[in-house]
Amino acid sequence: MTVTVRSFAKINLGLRIGAKRSDGFHELLTVYQTIGLHDIIRVHLEPGRGIEIRCSDPRVPKDESNTCYRIAEGARHFLQAKGRVVIEIEKRLPVQGGLGGASANAVAALVGLEGTLKKFLPAEQRFRIAAEVGSDLPLFLIGGTILGVGRGEQVYPVEDLPAMACVVVTPEVGVSTPKAFSQWDRSCGAGTLARESPLRGKNRSVAGQSPSAELTATTASDRMIELGRAYSAWLSMPHSGAPFADSRRSRAENPLLELVRAGITNDFETVVFPEYPELCEAKRALQRAGAKYASLSGSGSALYGLFVSRDDAARAAARLRRQGWAAEATVTLTQGQYWRKLVA
Ligand code: C5P
Repeated sequence: MTVTVRSFAKINLGLRIGAKRSDGFHELLTVYQTIGLHDIIRVHLEPGRGIEIRCSDPRVPKDESNTCYRIAEGARHFLQAKGRVVIEIEKRLPVQGGLGGASANAVAALVGLEGTLKKFLPAEQRFRIAAEVGSDLPLFLIGGTILGVGRGEQVYPVEDLPAMACVVVTPEVGVSTPKAFSQWDRSCGAGTLARESPLRGKNRSVAGQSPSAELTATTASDRMIELGRAYSAWLSMPHSGAPFADSRRSRAENPLLELVRAGITNDFETVVFPEYPELCEAKRALQRAGAKYASLSGSGSALYGLFVSRDDAARAAARLRRQGWAAEATVTLTQGQYWRKLVA
């Protein structure tokens, strides 16, 4: 039996990079949002042993470095899978696109493997195995709107919000996430953050640290707190269910637009745009096409714009395509929609 799973993409609604940790990862604060664009994953068992990855896209590794391979390897012992696990990836999402493609593929492969075997891992084990494969995987075990902290792998679902129209632009270039993080570290050292800091000029030196290193560390933490406050304010708004929700709701076009009005930004833009100016140009093109908010997703190279209506998004995507951009209109997926549509 073959199980077919839609492997939906995510975008980041704001992303702050914090301090580099002793394990080499960076503290992150972000809100993930799943969207309708997806790859297709098919899982079946054949006689034999091992794990086989099939994909016609030459950019996708077929060996044990593939996220689908790694998650299947992590799960098959617990699922007592007998035979050869075959995972086919029909790639539609960009590779290294910041849309979580490879991470979503892995979670879809896990869902497919469980479905094929009709055995299901306990939730805690699923989250552990997913986080071991990558920071961006656990969000796809939740779907919808998700607060991400830690190295991005600690995920908390946010109340289901109405679907929102968006346009995703996928430039040809692939951006390496580890490289983008290193560039971020270098730019902090070079004082990029210090220049932006609202605390600039205040005397905050600490014994044993150079003033610039200390200022950078303080600034990084301040900036995390700043976005944290914007998220807290947004999360505490009664979007639905609360007794006085209706009066607030009538004032808001869409809760996601309320969030982006809080002035959220993606830190990766600071280092990725100078390296790939065409991505900054794509963001401007989305804004000119009428996006209420446009941003790089993750470390890129994909960008997205949020639109008030599906018609606006469809018109904007058509306009961007005429200008030569690879652009597709889609919608954000609520947690309910994500799970209803996951298994094809
Ligand atoms: O967890 P994942 O495999 O997606 O991370 C890929 C690389 O990105 C890590 O090895 C690390 O260099 C970098 N990273 C980071 N901080 C994070 C997430 C990823 O430095 N929060």
